[in-house]
Amino acid sequence: MIIAIDGTAASGKGTLAKRVAAHYGLHHLDTGRLYRAVARDTLAAGGDPSDAGAALAAARALDAKSLDDPDLRTPDLGEAASLVARHPEVRKTLLAYQRAFARRKPGAVIDGRDIGTIVCPDADVKLFVTATPEERARRRYREFKDDGIDVTEKEVLADILARDARDKNRAVAPLRQAEDAVLLDTTNLAIDAAFRAAISLIDAAMGRAGRAG
Ligand code: CDP
Repeated sequence: MIIAIDGTAASGKGTLAKRVAAHYGLHHLDTGRLYRAVARDTLAAGGDPSDAGAALAAARALDAKSLDDPDLRTPDLGEAASLVARHPEVRKTLLAYQRAFARRKPGAVIDGRDIGTIVCPDADVKLFVTATPEERARRRYREFKDDGIDVTEKEVLADILARDARDKNRAVAPLRQAEDAVLLDTTNLAIDAAFRAAISLIDAAMGRAGRAG
């Protein structure tokens, strides 16, 4: 059982994916962390995230044990992640890890930008999560503030818009809704309501596919 959850920057797909995984008893992989970790390691080695060679060396040497690093969520690493994510070789290197994760029993919820289109095109259910940029910026700003990160809401909005544009317009695995994905707009939904909406969309999709328990 594979559930693919893609979406725009700061759309809340990570939080949703985590809760959906707990609900169905499945593993969860936040693939944004892979790109953020490659960005972290590229910068730590003195490399430039826009340099394909430097980013590829970091992707090849990536230690899965370092994916829990709380510092991966900073705004700077979000920006740098979207730069390393443009390199086709980096994406190819991270693909094997993601596909192996998807094969874990009893199944997985995987969130990112290209899960329904490239990583797991045969996923049982695909969701595409978004909200208006202003609402996403408001939520992400509050998270940063709670974590003591010094940034303004205006800066967060600018970062979200820049990353969405970069993710949608890149040559490989651009951010887009898979044709068979169901859209979930969380602009007017608090997290509990978004979670309930996701569960009913997933149950309905599984029912259509003849997998309902
Ligand atoms: O949580 P947030 O939406 O801010 O970002 P994230 O999911 O942690 O992803 C950070 C960046 O990694 C994105 O802006 C993308 O450029 C890249 N990414 C990607 O290209 N493909 C994925 N499957 C996941 C993330």
